[in-house]
Amino acid sequence: MSRPVLWIPRRVSDATLARAQRDYEVITKDTDTPGTAAEIIAMSAQADAMLPCHSELFTADVVAQLDPRLKIIANHSVGYDHCDLQALGARGIVVTNTPDVLSDATAEIAMLLMLGAARRAVEGDRLVRTGAWDSWSPSFMVGKQVTGARIGIVGMGRVGRAFATKARGFGMQIHYHNRTRLPADLEQGAVFHESLETLLPQADFLSLHCPATPETVDLLNAKTLAMLPMGAVVVNTARGALVDEAALLQALAQGHVAAAGLDCFKTEPGGNPAFAAHDNVFMLPHIGSATRATRDAMGFRALDNIDAFFAGQAPKDRLV
Ligand code: DGY
Repeated sequence: MSRPVLWIPRRVSDATLARAQRDYEVITKDTDTPGTAAEIIAMSAQADAMLPCHSELFTADVVAQLDPRLKIIANHSVGYDHCDLQALGARGIVVTNTPDVLSDATAEIAMLLMLGAARRAVEGDRLVRTGAWDSWSPSFMVGKQVTGARIGIVGMGRVGRAFATKARGFGMQIHYHNRTRLPADLEQGAVFHESLETLLPQADFLSLHCPATPETVDLLNAKTLAMLPMGAVVVNTARGALVDEAALLQALAQGHVAAAGLDCFKTEPGGNPAFAAHDNVFMLPHIGSATRATRDAMGFRALDNIDAFFAGQAPKDRLV
């Protein structure tokens, strides 16, 4: 019996590729560039399954042009805002994601960004790297202390909770806003806020961990940024869509936001060059889940979902 054809639009981990090639007829490219709409549509006539990333876009327009051969899209991502689930569901195409396996790696990057922003990592690194470090005094390179401060977490799903665990290790007081309050065993003493409006004034540090949905686009905007305490630090490892970047730039320029740590931007790849003018913005290129162990785990989780589908079982992480 012939094996299903699997299209993997970019370079995945060696272990993921080896397992995929063991079990499927794999078509792939050795590239980090996202598959275009035209490629996705063309490949749907050649592949039974796809293993895309968060930046291959399955818009309603693309979905309408997919060939009926394509049966399953097993995302190599926990986020699925790049997929029009309604359109895909209506076409009968199964869609899955990779929850759980990237929570710790992403929480680590959020911690790195929070610490780096608070303790002026960009500025300090440049001083030493360029040989411009020529003095020291008690008032030199003074930043904001994390230990004992209040952290506001928006979105207390798996990544938000993994971040809260790490923040507890730093003695932070955890406040959070979530659609629903967590049970006590998951909350672990964190203070629940029913609304963003009550959370924000408590957030000396704010970390975003919610998905991008029509309701959360520009959740941080001029009005909500103004609700933060003066000198707050903002961290985003979730999605660029959550932040009105012009408003954040203005809050940084005014000093209302003391610093920001950003792994996600409205425009990716590329980011927003306007942030580069601010030394108090510590930026990374969307690498929250980029550890060897996590990338293997994401690839394997996506393949587990494809395996289940072709074995006639329900994929564990089915979204539609
Ligand atoms: C995710 O899994 O959604 C991350 O953003 C990486 O793709």
